[in-house]
Amino acid sequence: MNKKWMHYTVGTFLVLLLVVGLTLIIRTVNSDLQIPDLDNALAERGLELAKSNGCVACHSLDGGVGIGPTWLGMYGKTETLVDGSTVVVDEDYIIESILRPDAKQVEGYEKVMVRSFLSGEELQALVEFTRQLAEQ
Ligand code: HEC
Repeated sequence: MNKKWMHYTVGTFLVLLLVVGLTLIIRTVNSDLQIPDLDNALAERGLELAKSNGCVACHSLDGGVGIGPTWLGMYGKTETLVDGSTVVVDEDYIIESILRPDAKQVEGYEKVMVRSFLSGEELQALVEFTRQLAEQ
């Protein structure tokens, strides 16, 4: 292996270590999630999906800082993207963010989110959950 490749390998390893480390720390912090009152089964399912798919490792539900933007008050807000344009966080944007995390990048955050393969019903559940979270 020549030197250049060794640098790439070591660099990639360190970045991965950082992401995994941060994820673990945030997961620990989030383990005692304060869950708001949800008023229907779809939103409850959204919360379960957010936990089982690891979304809450990067997205806090209480406004806390995370690897990704907090979900508290996310629904309906106007988000600024890295190119300076703005977008209103609605159902379509949330679904696009999940299916194509690369499509739009929120200002101040890294491109580290990976695609989750979720069914239409699961996507609806996550949207409903974040919508109710914004109403708290
Ligand atoms: C490894 C960390 C990570 C995980 C896991 C993750 N995300 Fe993200 N997510 C991010 C980051 C970072 C951003 C902001 C950068 C960007 O837009 O790509 C983001 C952006 C978003 C946005 C847009 C938020 C906004 O304020 O505009 C939504 C919606 C979203 N994620 C939903 C999800 C859902 C649903 C899951 C679980 C299925 C999930 N994310 C899992 C890191 C993550």
